Amino acid sequence: MSLTNTKTWSRVLVPVLLLCCVSYYCSHFFLQSSEGAFSKALCDSWNISQKWERLNFNVSRNAQLFLKLEDFFWRRYLSTFALPYGVKGSELFLVKALAAMPSYDMPETIKHLLCKTCMVVGNGFAIKNTSLGSSINKYDIVIRLNDAPVRGYEADVGNKTTMRLFYPESASYNPSIHNDPDTLMVLVPFKQQDVRWLKEILYNEKRIRKGFWKPPPEIWLGKTSHIRILDPYFLQQTASRLLRLPLNTPPKTNQIPAHPTTGILAIYVALNYCDVIHIAGFGYPESKDLKHPIHYYGYDTMKSMKNSYHNLSHEVKALKRLEDSGAVVYLHPHS
Ligand SMILES: *[C@@H]1O[C@H](CO)[C@@H](O)[C@H](O)[C@H]1NC(C)=O
Ligand SMILES: *[C@@H]1O[C@H](CO)[C@@H](O)[C@H](O)[C@H]1NC(C)=O
Ligand SMILES: *[C@@H]1O[C@H](CO)[C@@H](O)[C@H](O)[C@H]1NC(C)=O
Ligand SMILES: *[C@@H]1O[C@H](CO)[C@@H](O)[C@H](O)[C@H]1NC(C)=O
Ligand SMILES: *[C@@H]1O[C@H](CO)[C@@H](O)[C@H](O)[C@H]1NC(C)=O
Repeated sequence: MSLTNTKTWSRVLVPVLLLCCVSYYCSHFFLQSSEGAFSKALCDSWNISQKWERLNFNVSRNAQLFLKLEDFFWRRYLSTFALPYGVKGSELFLVKALAAMPSYDMPETIKHLLCKTCMVVGNGFAIKNTSLGSSINKYDIVIRLNDAPVRGYEADVGNKTTMRLFYPESASYNPSIHNDPDTLMVLVPFKQQDVRWLKEILYNEKRIRKGFWKPPPEIWLGKTSHIRILDPYFLQQTASRLLRLPLNTPPKTNQIPAHPTTGILAIYVALNYCDVIHIAGFGYPESKDLKHPIHYYGYDTMKSMKNSYHNLSHEVKALKRLEDSGAVVYLHPHS
């Protein structure tokens, strides 16, 4: 090997390497800006003032979605409701759980977006075979529910998850299987036991199994830094404002209290936080067949929704109102 040979090689290699670097950065920039362009186009075409005018209920646009430890110290967090609609009676468990959590916020990159485009992915069968995955991945914020899987269903449901709303009975013991490493895991507390469950996980205390309708995981491998607790205010508002449900079931009646589903709650949260709200995977099968599957995964059927704590007829009506007002847009045809 002569010196000239080496020189010739470097004369060829250096430009090639340079070209590689430049095209890498260009493609990177292009990919990022094409996602930015997606959000910008949606934001521009979406007449935000018109949207808020059309909504006939008062959306607070309260940017703080999650409970903070300070809420309980400086301004005593007063609530006239117990869970699921308020913190009354659960303050001690909440303070202890919050004290073990390092953050109560959305990620900085999302907080500072001027216009936020959001995608709420419901777990409904309707999303099957829609091939919406790559579209779903383009939104600034993708919200998913409970233990709905992503791996194996990417073509229809995408694989980006900004936050996932869940309660202990719907928690999967290892959130990293179906989420990004930086997905926020948002606990929706429906009852005091739910907060106690989180506290026991965070402090590795003895698990008390009583008080759940299905055993929650006793081991939970989620990252402490990514746990958040949704402010029960949002469930209360979903029930009273959006669904117009009575918040207190009269005592001494056998009536089952009808709480909103996590899905309609997620849409209400999005209405409070996002500028553009698109949804997919909402709605129930038109078929009266009780054996019809209701989710895009697993084997749950309409039968399992009977006798649940939800009144679906209210939710269907509320969703229709939101869709008619233009506040939310479905990404696929639905019944
Ligand atoms: C948006 O809506 C407002 C209020 O209805 C209206 O005055 C305005 O002209 C609309 N803008 C566009 C670009 O459609
Ligand atoms: C809407 O919210 C604002 C601010 O919280 C409040 O001042 C106003 O009275 C509310 N309006 C209705 C109709 O509830
Ligand atoms: C989805 O597509 C697969 C493969 O083409 C087909 O077997 C299945 O029946 C479809 N499912 C629905 C609900 O359309
Ligand atoms: C989602 O899928 C794309 C394409 O397969 C991949 O590049 C990306 O890393 C995936 N993201 C997550 C969070 O799994
Ligand atoms: C749901 O609410 C409607 C209207 O308030 C009521 O007629 C119906 O009986 C309720 N359904 C269930 C299953 O509670």
